[in-house]
Amino acid sequence: MTAASPRWVQTPDEAPGGVLRFITCGSVDDGKSTLMGRLLYELEAIPDDQLAVLQADSRRWGTQGEALDFALLLDGLSAEREQGITIDVSYRYFATTRRKFIVADTPGHEQYTRNMVTAASTAQLAVLLVDARQGLQTQTRRHSHVLRLVGLRQVLLLINKMDLVGWDEAVARRIEAEYRDFASRIGLAAPQVIPVSALHGDNLLRRSSRMAWHRGPTLIEALEDRRLDDGPARGSAALRLPVQWVCRPSADFRGYAGLIVAGSVKPGDAICVQPSGQQARVQRLVSPEGDRDHAGVDESVMLTLDRELDVSRGDLICAAEAPAALAERFECSLVWMAEEALLPGRSYLLKLGTRTVNAQVTELRHRLDVQSGQALAADSLGLNEIGLCGLALDRALPFDPYAENRDTGGFILIDRLSLATMAAGMLHRALSPARDLHPQRLSVDRAARQRLMKHGSALVWLTGLSGAGKSTIANLLEQRLHAQGCHTYLLDGDHVRRGLCKDLGFSSADRVENIRRLAEVGRLMADAGLIVLVAAISPFRAERRLARELLEDGRFLEIHVDVPLAVAEARDPKGLYRKARRGELPNFTGIDSPYEAPEQPELRIDSSLQSAEEAAQAIHELLQGRDIV
Ligand code: ADX
Repeated sequence: MTAASPRWVQTPDEAPGGVLRFITCGSVDDGKSTLMGRLLYELEAIPDDQLAVLQADSRRWGTQGEALDFALLLDGLSAEREQGITIDVSYRYFATTRRKFIVADTPGHEQYTRNMVTAASTAQLAVLLVDARQGLQTQTRRHSHVLRLVGLRQVLLLINKMDLVGWDEAVARRIEAEYRDFASRIGLAAPQVIPVSALHGDNLLRRSSRMAWHRGPTLIEALEDRRLDDGPARGSAALRLPVQWVCRPSADFRGYAGLIVAGSVKPGDAICVQPSGQQARVQRLVSPEGDRDHAGVDESVMLTLDRELDVSRGDLICAAEAPAALAERFECSLVWMAEEALLPGRSYLLKLGTRTVNAQVTELRHRLDVQSGQALAADSLGLNEIGLCGLALDRALPFDPYAENRDTGGFILIDRLSLATMAAGMLHRALSPARDLHPQRLSVDRAARQRLMKHGSALVWLTGLSGAGKSTIANLLEQRLHAQGCHTYLLDGDHVRRGLCKDLGFSSADRVENIRRLAEVGRLMADAGLIVLVAAISPFRAERRLARELLEDGRFLEIHVDVPLAVAEARDPKGLYRKARRGELPNFTGIDSPYEAPEQPELRIDSSLQSAEEAAQAIHELLQGRDIV
């Protein structure tokens, strides 16, 4: 084994060539672990204690006889990976005299697409390994599609295990030609190609005498020489500064702080704050070491403006001459990262930069087959699947296409209840220009209408299994209220599905839309001053919560009409459970479609213990207690 050359050092402060962030990818057996282990070993970047463990492990477990088995060095991290952290990438740091490096190691299996997306989205280069004996594999192609999707177009192709093909130039050339052709077809930049043997160290740090035919650089030379500004030229783009923090220590100072994600700024520059569009000039760039006269991309700054504007966290400060576009409907790509599948129509939180808004996936145009690159029809996205979607936000957001700027065009979707990250997304284009909606202040408002009605309005939402008694209870309650002189309306699932919702079935996605429509119509009717009763299975927490959020000041009352499934099934008033058990009614709630019980309903009724009359009375009392009737 060659001793490492003294020119490889680990003192980062001496590395003048900046920091290169890269990822390694390729099929599972292409030799990624061996490559990184060997590279770090030759760079003397492995601490002594880890080296000692490696020597012991190699004797015990190694597959390389007396030699060190470098794969064991990085495989030691795999235990950490299995701990079930959602997004899980291990980063390694090393340095040469010329540059610092941060390498993200992402597992190769298909189920780790999400990890790869996470790592690739901040990297400048992908080192893609291919086994010389195997040539291009489906994994090679899949990883390449993911790279293009996250905008990492710079690929360094390492044709590994050249020792096992007799250092044959023809083999390497054939793989190179095939990959070049593939890369250009899918829109990746022309790759740099290096034949190596990770196991023996050929063409890593040392130029291989066994492959004298290779005229290009070694791996380390390629990494050291790689230009850092590949990809979107963020430094020369127009200013983008997402406001992270508004600093107001006293009445006469107001600073806006954040990280510059594109362009640069200096005092005197004209800026525009999106989404409001207010304009001003930069007055000062404040820093603890005194004022600065310039700040560039990837620097954190605090600036002050020459006039008072209404700026808050989440706003985007842009160059006045080139502000980010505003849109509330987008076309985007989504990489689904959660076990629970995407439900088009469900409302998620979308976080873009420092801003969080409500978002709905309005349509799923297609799913990308990552092996072939083909677009396939789909109505949902599962874990690690990638799709092209339409997205609707509840307000307009400033953005740039992801291809131009990963920071102002990349986002994540978050589950509204668990706050888990569900997807990573890339905005491609606005689907329609932001509509300038300026709702007129109406003179006859809900309060005025209620003075006429002489009672309050509310949305009373009865949820529960089919056969629980929702409709019966709602009907009795409406009779009581009507007799008392209240204005009411009952929206019953079975009725609404004959008209407003007759285009919907019972898939999860259709139920999401069914509940959304009931909620929106219920809100309008309650706004009109009515006491609205909804009786629908409405099996999902997320959509019931959406309904709750549509009505302010406690006017949404969730009533769980609870009953053991066995009791509902024994009642079976419409004979549907029997049909479902016979397999004639797919997606039947409680049988093969889920019901998510309310966690904190305003009232829970057990209809196997209480009569419908008692239940109606209990809800009536609740309305009285809230001064609605
Ligand atoms: S919801 O789940 O979307 O809220 P909704 O309350 O509107 O359902 O409609 C439920 C009614 O549709 C049931 O009372 C039953 O009569 C009928 N139905 C037909 N197929 C199904 C099914 N697969 N699951 C549940 N209900 C069904």
